[in-house]
Amino acid sequence: MATKKIFIEACFGRETEYTPVWLMRQAGRYLSEYMAVRKKAGSFLDLCHNPELSAEVTLQPVDILGVDSAILFSDILVVPNEMGMELNFLTGEGPQFSKPLQTDEDLENLDMSASQKLNYVYETIKIVKNKLPENKALIGFAGSPWTLATYMIEGEGTKTYSKVKKVIYQNPDYMHKLLNKLSIVVEEYLENQIKAGADAIQIFDSWASALEESAYFEFSWNYMKKISANLKKKYPEIPIILFPKGIGAYLDKIDGDFDVFGVDWGTPMRLAHEKLGDRYVLQGNLEPSRLYSREAIDSGIDEILKITNGKRHIFNLGHGMLPDLDRENVKYLVKLVQNKTRKK
Ligand code: CP3
Repeated sequence: MATKKIFIEACFGRETEYTPVWLMRQAGRYLSEYMAVRKKAGSFLDLCHNPELSAEVTLQPVDILGVDSAILFSDILVVPNEMGMELNFLTGEGPQFSKPLQTDEDLENLDMSASQKLNYVYETIKIVKNKLPENKALIGFAGSPWTLATYMIEGEGTKTYSKVKKVIYQNPDYMHKLLNKLSIVVEEYLENQIKAGADAIQIFDSWASALEESAYFEFSWNYMKKISANLKKKYPEIPIILFPKGIGAYLDKIDGDFDVFGVDWGTPMRLAHEKLGDRYVLQGNLEPSRLYSREAIDSGIDEILKITNGKRHIFNLGHGMLPDLDRENVKYLVKLVQNKTRKK
């Protein structure tokens, strides 16, 4: 019989020997080993394009931290990049598209065969799966259509979302056309990741909180929900995690065919547990900045575990890891969660 993966068991709400833990952005700059590989690759995007080196940094947190799951090393923005949009990562400033979407022609020109051009990602998955211990899982991922569309229209990170909001309120048809195109490509991309060996899928909706309630469901959640439902129909054995960041006030309206709800740190775990805990396994949600202090880690873990009580829960941060964290504190967190929740 094949060795069970504790993370996958937990995604389906089955009892596990302890609560599995992994951390969003667990591969990255706070690890000197990551910095060394990125240097060898040349740049961040060169690293994403290199399957051998991407596989190496995917596996680093499993070896160094002892987390229960690896997450594919890549970026959500390789998808619009392969749809034909030139992308640069400027040091200290984050991602930037040189020609953001503006016209109908820009929309027409998007390359709908992008999922076939992402072979370097599928290669990375195959290499990781060959090296990953059998009891650990590999999570594949994509950005939600809304979060990708925001980057494609704004061209970079934004505080006001003014360009993309102008589109949703002045020209909603344009937005829906773009979201439909992205949904097709993202679904194909995730299906290819599953075929390459991904054991679970997470969809990141990092800019969810930019939208008022009705707009959120119209322009984001409904698209994520559809992608998830389509994948679940074809691959019921692959757990799907949806992570909409910052929509704690809309939990009453959350529904759909997926397995795990990612709770961000701004949404109290108590509230998520009360509203969604009987329908979905919950993942999260330690405030990432608690990693700056061991006392803050201790009390943060206790608060979360008191609510979840070792059931239907995957431990994670409530958003990504910060670059200047002390790795020893990260190791401390992982061990502590696994030990505190271990059933004797
Ligand atoms: O979690 C992991 O370890 C897997 C790898 C991963 C990265 N990006 C690597 C990365 C994942 C899952 C992502 C997802 C991603 N990328 C999201 C969604 C999650 C979230 O944080 O909300 C978003 C919004 C992006 C877009 C993106 N990529 C931004 C805004 C930035 C710059 C911000 C920053 O932290 O510098 C990136 C760059 C990026 N993606 C880095 C890493 C490790 C840092 C690049 C570097 O090495 O310099």
